[in-house]
This record gives sequence, C-alpha cells and structure tokens, in this order.
Amino acid sequence: MDWRIKQLTIELSAPKNIRARELSTAMKSRTQSILITESQIGERVRELGREISGDYANSDLVLLGVLKGGVVFFTDLMRAVSIPVRCEFVQIESYGANCVSSENVEVIHGIKGNLRNADVLVVEDIVDTGHSLNFLMNYVSTLQPASVRVCSLLDKPGRRVVPVSIDYVGFEIDDVFVIGYGLDYNQQYRNLPYVAVCDD
Ligand code: IMP
Ligand code: MG
Repeated sequence: MDWRIKQLTIELSAPKNIRARELSTAMKSRTQSILITESQIGERVRELGREISGDYANSDLVLLGVLKGGVVFFTDLMRAVSIPVRCEFVQIESYGANCVSSENVEVIHGIKGNLRNADVLVVEDIVDTGHSLNFLMNYVSTLQPASVRVCSLLDKPGRRVVPVSIDYVGFEIDDVFVIGYGLDYNQQYRNLPYVAVCDD
C-alpha cells in the first residue's frame, strides 16, 4: 500500500462514511475533501500492527497513547497488535483553540505506569513541527525505559522545525491542516472515521 498521500481522493459532496446528518452538515462548513478514507486507514493500521508485533516479539512492549489526538489511532492499533502489550497514556498540549503550532508544550496528565526497562512505543496522531514529540521523548526518557520508539498515524515532514525520528509512519501528508480520526479543529471533528482537510 502506498502511504504517501499526495492527492485529495474523494470529494466531500459524495461522502461514503458519514454516519449522521449533523456530521455531514458540520463537515461541509469546515472541509473540502476526505484525504484518507476509513478503509485506507484500516488497511494501514493492520499493516502497522503486524509489523510492530513482529518487531516487538519477546519484548515488554508498552504502547504509550498521547491524548487526546492519538486516542482513536491508539485503540485501533492496540487491537491490531497480536503480542502481549501494556497500555499507558499521557496527555500533553501544544495547541490552543486554533491551527497554530506552539513550542510551549505542557503535560496535562502525566504517565502513571512504570516504564522502567520497558520497550515503549509512543503512539501519536501527527508529527507537525516536532516540538511535542521532542518534549515527550525527553519526558519519557526520564522514566528509564529500555527503549523508546515512535509510531505516528500522520507525518507532515514539510513542517518540521525540530528534527525527530519516527519509526512507524501511517501516512505522510503535505502541509495541510487535517481533522478526523482523533484530530481536532477547536476540539471538534475527532469522531470522524476518516481524515479530511480543514478548509479554514
Ligand atoms: P507539533 O508539536 O507541531 O509536531 O504538533 C503537535 C500536535 O499538534 C499534534 O499532536 C496535533 O495534536 C496537533 N496538530 C498538528 N497538526 C495538526 C493538524 O493538521 N490537525 C490537527 N491537529 C494538528
Ligand atoms: Mg498529538
């Protein structure tokens, strides 16, 4: 499967997966097009799950979900992983109620579980400037895990300010603001089952 998304694929005027009329109406005011469909996401998540299960066989794997944006991807990915795994969560915030990235990253809910000597896989929604991930990697390393790697559903390499390495990428996308499948605009649209481009 080619996971480098370069083109908008489906016009919103013919939505396939919208579950409720109000979602459809709200979407039209904010988006142009669906960028990654529900079935493309599902296929890629299953691929990533298989790859991670192979790479982490015989490890003390901890999936570290990054709230809130990573939650939808996290819950699908954990079920695509077929080896024993622990789940932990952290909530950080770098965005206000707009589309502007910030280097002021803040921990809202810290990591409660024991990560010492564990093989941690950070599960992110998107890596944009890299500020959040860079902050998170520093935070996680203070908990003395055996290893820390990163799995991000989306990667916007064209926006990078801080160099960060991502071990598993779901889809590489252009510099567009996206919503859905966990990603928000002003805390809305996280429940859309696909990824769409935000219009404004
Ligand atoms: P970064 O610190 O700039 O890499 O971005 C961190 C966070 O900004 C991500 O984890 C998202 O929560 C949010 N973000 C970045 N780009 C987008 C986008 O296109 N749509 C929605 N949220 C985004
Ligand atoms: Mg995030």
